[in-house]
Amino acid sequence: MTNDAIKILRFLRKKEKGAMEIPPLEKRPRHIAFIMDGNGRWAQRRSLPRSAGHAAGTEALREIIKACDELKIEVMSIYAFSTENWNRPIEEVNALMKLITKYFVSEIDELHEKGVRIKILGELERFPEEQKSALEKAMAKTRFNKGLKLNIALNYGGRAEIVRAAKAISEKCRSGEMTPDQIDYDALSNEMYTAGDPDVDLLIRTSGDMRLSNFLLWQTWYAEIIFNPLCWPDYNRAALIKDLNEYASRDRRFGRVKVK
Ligand code: IPE
Ligand code: IPE
Ligand code: MG
Repeated sequence: MTNDAIKILRFLRKKEKGAMEIPPLEKRPRHIAFIMDGNGRWAQRRSLPRSAGHAAGTEALREIIKACDELKIEVMSIYAFSTENWNRPIEEVNALMKLITKYFVSEIDELHEKGVRIKILGELERFPEEQKSALEKAMAKTRFNKGLKLNIALNYGGRAEIVRAAKAISEKCRSGEMTPDQIDYDALSNEMYTAGDPDVDLLIRTSGDMRLSNFLLWQTWYAEIIFNPLCWPDYNRAALIKDLNEYASRDRRFGRVKVK
C-alpha cells in the first residue's frame, strides 16, 4: 500500500468527535476484548475492495491501542483472525495474513517503547514461516514489558482453546501431577492462552452484529457486552470513551442482588 493510499484511507475514516469525560480509573475495565468486525462492509459501502477495509481497520487499531495504553487499561484482547476465517477466499486469507504481520512488524518498535507486551492467542503453526517468525519475534522482544498487555487472537477459536485446556488437564491427571478433584475454575483458567490475565470485563463488537463468533468463550463469562454499530475502521478514541462511559454506568451483579 502506497503512502498516498494510506492518507486517503485515513481521510475516509469518520472523524467522530466526542467531548465526553473519561470515567475514573476504578470505573474502567481492567480487560477489554474487541471483536474488530465490519471491515468488509466499510469497504463495500465505499465501493472499495474488502482489502481496503482491512487496511483502514489497521488505522483504527493503531488509535485504539494508543488510547487503551493512555487510559491505563491492563489488558486489551483483539480478535484478528478466527479458526473459521480460514474458510474465506484464499486471496482474502493471504491478504489478511500479510497485513497483520506487516502491521506488527512496522509497529513493534513503537509498541516496545511504550512498554506494550504482545501475546498471541491461538496456534501459529498454520501460518507461513515468515509471518510466524515475525510474530514470534514480536512476542519475544516485548516479553518482559510491564505496560499494556496486548493479546492478539490469531487462528484463535474459543472452543478449540477449551478443548486444548481439557487435554492439558487430562494429561496432568494421567501423569499424576494433579488429581481430578483438583480441577476447578482456576485450573482451567491457567490452561487458557490468557493464563494470568483477569477475565474480560468489557467485550466490544463493532459493526452491529450481535454474536460472540467463538471469541474468548471462557473468559467472557460475566463480561459486559457492547455491540457498537460503527464498522471497525470508523471506531476511534471518542467511540471508545463513549463505550467506557456506558460500561461505567452498568450495574455488574455477578448473580447477586444489588446492594444499595
Ligand atoms: C473483520 O471484518 C475483520 C476480520 C475478520 C479479520 P470482516 O472482514 O468480517 O468484515 P465484514 O463483517 O465482512 O463486514
Ligand atoms: C469475527 O468476525 C472474527 C474477527 C473479527 C476476526 P467474523 O466476521 O469472522 O464473524 P461472523 O462470521 O460474522 O460470525
Ligand atoms: Mg465480519
